Amino acid sequence: MSLVVTGATGQLGRLVVEELLAAGVPAGQIAAVVRDKDKAAGLADRGVALRVADYSAPETLRDAFRSGDKVLLISGSEVGRRVPQHQAVIDAAKDAGVALLAYTGILGGPDADLALADEHKATERAILDSGLPYTFLRNGWYHENYTANLAPVLEHGAVLANAGEGRIASASRADYAAAAAAVLTGEGHEGKAYELSGDVAWSLDEYAAELTRQTGKEIVHRSVTPEENREVLLGAGLPAPFADLLVGVDTAIGQGLLARRTGDLARLIGRPTTPLADAVAAALK
Ligand SMILES: NC(=O)c1ccc[n+]([C@@H]2O[C@H](COP(=O)([O-])OP(=O)(O)OC[C@H]3O[C@@H](n4cnc5c(N)ncnc54)[C@H](OP(=O)(O)O)[C@@H]3O)[C@@H](O)[C@H]2O)c1
Repeated sequence: MSLVVTGATGQLGRLVVEELLAAGVPAGQIAAVVRDKDKAAGLADRGVALRVADYSAPETLRDAFRSGDKVLLISGSEVGRRVPQHQAVIDAAKDAGVALLAYTGILGGPDADLALADEHKATERAILDSGLPYTFLRNGWYHENYTANLAPVLEHGAVLANAGEGRIASASRADYAAAAAAVLTGEGHEGKAYELSGDVAWSLDEYAAELTRQTGKEIVHRSVTPEENREVLLGAGLPAPFADLLVGVDTAIGQGLLARRTGDLARLIGRPTTPLADAVAAALK
């Protein structure tokens, strides 16, 4: 039996493997499902088993899982292609007879009312239909969605968005990784859906004020319409579908859809979630 992490060469997956190792799971009991072995060399060096597979190629998934494995399916990053990709992973997990399939979905699960949620909803339904023991890790927003992209904000002195006064209960990627590791290593998580988000919901005004405080440079929140934001994003060279997706996320934030706080994340990780200010400080370093 192994604890298996898909997307293990991604940002979240790497952190989940780190959490498992830090929790004392022997490296030999951890398997990383990766599509590029070279990218995973660091994991292999530490004794983590590599299983090479691509969500888009069902035949490669045949050896990705073993009977009794506890599997974390990290949602893919190819928006629009994820339903068949995730279905292939679910089918392979079912064929292998895994003991648990945990899935990183989206805050709100079946009630999440934004376009980005559709593939997560379909994946949760497919997992339920499979009859596999499951845990849904419905992840809210990462702090890093904001703090990883500070260069244009610092350059223009403005956080530009069409989210209005909407609040965001984000947490650090490492917090969500710790929750996933807790589910893989703990007991009693079968059949549970966790609504994971940060302890504090902040507004973009507050975010701009925090950036001002930490940089010493005045940074404001410029609230624009969805149409204006779309123009700016297209002008910055983003492809139209991605610009539309980001505008849709801001609209959802404006409606309060990403402000939900349940305390599930702090309970799972056994500590408060990381403050946004810490993520800002880490990004500015
Ligand atoms: N909650 C949030 O705020 C938020 C923000 C962004 C994304 N997400 C979702 O959460 C997931 C994890 O976040 P992240 O930050 O770790 O994203 P990430 O760094 O882009 O990692 C995505 C992982 O999925 C793997 N992957 C993508 N397509 C695959 C395929 N066809 N077959 C096998 N593996 C595939 C990637 O493999 P490679 O390493 O080979 O590229 C990578 O390891 C994302 O994929 C996305 O679904 C959530």
